[in-house]
Amino acid sequence: MCGITGYIGTDPTGRIVHEGLQNLEYRGYDSAGIALAGGGSLSVHKTGGEVGDLPVPSREDGTRGIGHTRWSTHGEPTRENAHPHTDCTGDVAVVHNGIIENYAALADELRADHVFHSDTDTEVVPHLIETHLADGVSLLTAVQRTTERLTGSYALAITAAGHDGIVVARSDSPLLLGHGDTGTFVASDATAFIEHTNRVTYLRNGDIAHLTETEWTVYNDGARVSRDIEALDWSADAAGKSGYDHYMLKEIHEQPRALRQAISGRISDLGTDVTLDMELSTETLQNVAELQIVACGTSYHAGLYAKELLETHADLPVTVHVASEYELRGGRSPKDTLVVAITQSGETADTLAALRSAAQKGAPTLALTNTLGSTVTREADDALFIRAGPEIGVAATKTFVSQVATAALLTMHIGRARNAISTSDAAALRDAIRDLPGAVQQVLDQAPEIASIAREYADSDAFFYVGRRAGRPVALESALKLKEISYDHAEGFSAGELKHGPLALVTDNTPVVAVLTEYAAPERTANNVKEVQSRGADVIGLASDAGTARHADVTITLPACGPLEPVVANVALQLFAYHIANEKGRPIDKPRNLAKSVTVE
Ligand code: G6P
Repeated sequence: MCGITGYIGTDPTGRIVHEGLQNLEYRGYDSAGIALAGGGSLSVHKTGGEVGDLPVPSREDGTRGIGHTRWSTHGEPTRENAHPHTDCTGDVAVVHNGIIENYAALADELRADHVFHSDTDTEVVPHLIETHLADGVSLLTAVQRTTERLTGSYALAITAAGHDGIVVARSDSPLLLGHGDTGTFVASDATAFIEHTNRVTYLRNGDIAHLTETEWTVYNDGARVSRDIEALDWSADAAGKSGYDHYMLKEIHEQPRALRQAISGRISDLGTDVTLDMELSTETLQNVAELQIVACGTSYHAGLYAKELLETHADLPVTVHVASEYELRGGRSPKDTLVVAITQSGETADTLAALRSAAQKGAPTLALTNTLGSTVTREADDALFIRAGPEIGVAATKTFVSQVATAALLTMHIGRARNAISTSDAAALRDAIRDLPGAVQQVLDQAPEIASIAREYADSDAFFYVGRRAGRPVALESALKLKEISYDHAEGFSAGELKHGPLALVTDNTPVVAVLTEYAAPERTANNVKEVQSRGADVIGLASDAGTARHADVTITLPACGPLEPVVANVALQLFAYHIANEKGRPIDKPRNLAKSVTVE
């Protein structure tokens, strides 16, 4: 995800901001930039490549500096789209994390008097600040007036030639100050400055702070407010993982934020409209007779979930293919078959090969991916981004939930285009999509209880996961997670298939995890629960409904989340897998024999 760093003080600013950017590199990024202001001038350095390509600005370049690592969501990862962005005068520099949802309308308004140089949502911010500065107000006031015009999420840091200090602002995107002996730091993540100070102030939503060489002042809603200084007990080492023991755990905890990013600006406040930045025409979507999904691993499981959603709500037959087994076939004309490649990396060789085979036969293609500029985005006719932010742990977690959430948005979009989705179904999907980040947070709040259940069962001989409908892909994915990181034998099944074979493996030391959520035919799965219990196995059940939960021996209670409730169960089972693997001391972020991106067929 994008990272912000900044410093104002008596130490060499250029070196400190440059080091801050290096410290943020672990988050993953595709371009970077730095701006220093001092006296009456502003110097900006940007690259479409790595932080190492940026010069280390000297003291003469300025005493107040801001820097940014960008992970593209709007516009390709080029030098022009890298932050900082500047206004027409070249005096105002802005770095931004988050998404300005109303940027298109603001840009239309500003274009009469301003020249834009990037494809980003961010660039409206320096131009808005420029218009306010032209009225003769301070930089602080100009930023305050600018934020009043913004909707969406942002963490902003701004510095300008001829204006004192650095101004920062936050709304729904993390930003904190660091208080050092030589000056004040700002960052989206304490990792950026932890080697200089562990004394921090977390800014709250709506806070705007003005940092000078000697003071820091915070305002909210126009009034001055006081904010505490806290001491972080991190070492610089732990900071790369934001204090978590593993990237996987950090990424599990990032899911509410990743989901908000996936949804942001795509779903209307009122009604059930979905706005997806897609080029496939409504006519194409109306005319397709079949949708084929190609994917591998976790993305394949997201594809199975997408099938459940699309077939139920968009009146479209869907087949899901393990990409390495795929070759476009079937009785229909390729032109009537929309082929969707789901791949978080956008680089998986098997998935790309499947996509190419479909494209060669003339099928329209769509990529559902996390990675802007990846090969799949260049080769597919159209791309839809899941905006999960970079994932470092080999075992996919946040990309899975973001893929499913984006598939739910796609279902609404296609359902609308085909006139197939009923108003009540659209409303149910919309509510589930909106509720999902909060529901996932509620599960994360139960992490200690889930960890203790995991420890209790860590020494089992094997683990079986069962579910129906959307509970089945979640059973498959949750079993995959456990086997990947704990090396335990774990298998997922259709709950109804248990009695056709797997039941022979069930003993009193093979717990069975049952997805008993909504959208997963819980009452029918409850019958299978009895089958395994009578063979002595413990059943760990996941449910929002107390009546259904009573069938299990151990229950993980979930918040209700309609058609996306099985996704909420998956988050609980990510934690379950993590804590079993952790109990066994496994190298969770880099499991043996596995790779994050598999670029060979
Ligand atoms: C590898 C990873 C899996 C991932 C799969 C597909 O096997 O270890 O976590 O699900 O590739 O990757 P993709 O980038 O195409 O989603």
